Amino acid sequence: MKRIVKKSPSQDTSFADALIDWQKQHGRHQLPWQGTRDAYRIWLSEIMLQQTQVATVIPYYARFLDSFPDVAALAAAPTETVMVHWSGLGYYTRARNLHRCAQQVVSNHAGRFPSDPETLASLPGIGKSTAAAIATFAFGARAAILDGNVKRVFCRVFGVEGFPGQAAVEKNLWQRAEAMLPAREIEAYTQGLMDLGATLCTRTRPACDRCPMQSRCIAHASGRTAELPARKPKKAIPEKSTVMLVVVHKGEILMEQRPPEGIWGGLLSLPELNRLFSENSDVDLDEKLALALSSFGDIDEIMMLSSFVHGFTHYRLSVMPVQVTLRQRHVMAAQSDYQWRALAQISDAALPSPVRKLLATLG
Ligand code: ADE
Repeated sequence: MKRIVKKSPSQDTSFADALIDWQKQHGRHQLPWQGTRDAYRIWLSEIMLQQTQVATVIPYYARFLDSFPDVAALAAAPTETVMVHWSGLGYYTRARNLHRCAQQVVSNHAGRFPSDPETLASLPGIGKSTAAAIATFAFGARAAILDGNVKRVFCRVFGVEGFPGQAAVEKNLWQRAEAMLPAREIEAYTQGLMDLGATLCTRTRPACDRCPMQSRCIAHASGRTAELPARKPKKAIPEKSTVMLVVVHKGEILMEQRPPEGIWGGLLSLPELNRLFSENSDVDLDEKLALALSSFGDIDEIMMLSSFVHGFTHYRLSVMPVQVTLRQRHVMAAQSDYQWRALAQISDAALPSPVRKLLATLG
């Protein structure tokens, strides 16, 4: 009788071997954060790449390093300057955590990033997968990564069912990621996982004909690359709406410095009508507008601008912009988070993308 020997994933080095060979021949080797062991540079790239594509990150990364060449320079910078450099990359919690992390590395770790993944993961903005990537690329540590791209590769190759964001599925994937780690060339292996997910095993139209995993891929063999990984169960996306005020007076515009927490935290945004009134205030919209505007000054002209919708991760925000030109403005002592800024220089500030776009349309 033929004996069937079932290998546990930890004995099976062929996935890692094939990936390492492929990475060396076909992977990416010229990215700006490669070819260095500088943990600061590697950390910065990994944070920027958490929710943003390589092509978008590259110019931000270069500008950031020009202004903040090392962790001490970043830690010492004012938050506003850091936010200006991040402005446009989105997910601004990353920038605030980045700044806090730099300060903690300076004050708690003598200015040097720790080399073990557990200590790295205790720092602000560094999750388990990011900690592993930093530890691998900066210190050669043998630690497993599991970002969205890697989840997709594993779900397809190993035919893992279920939505990867679900705890049980994620646990299964982490176990595989850890069991699969090679004993050698961890950098090429880890980069290979990232490269495969980003360049061949893409979400739509994967290039299976060029994939080193084709012969072992369950999704490919069963024609299910479009179904794996399983999609997130759909939930209705809530809609919110806001009236944004574009209040101008003699070449200046009224801006609101957003508090550090919450939407667009730390950025300079436009005043919003619903932020001036308590949520369950029963004053109607026209009355709110009249009240707000009269507190800003004497009105010369009011103009409705084109509405637009901005998509956030958890909701959609419908924005109705109203442009108000003042003949004369009042001093607003009570509203310390409001400030007048020169319109000509406003594009230099840390603005949320939709506000930047809206202001660019003004004559
Ligand atoms: N995505 C996350 N980390 C990355 C890296 N180091 N290189 C390319 N893409 C990535």
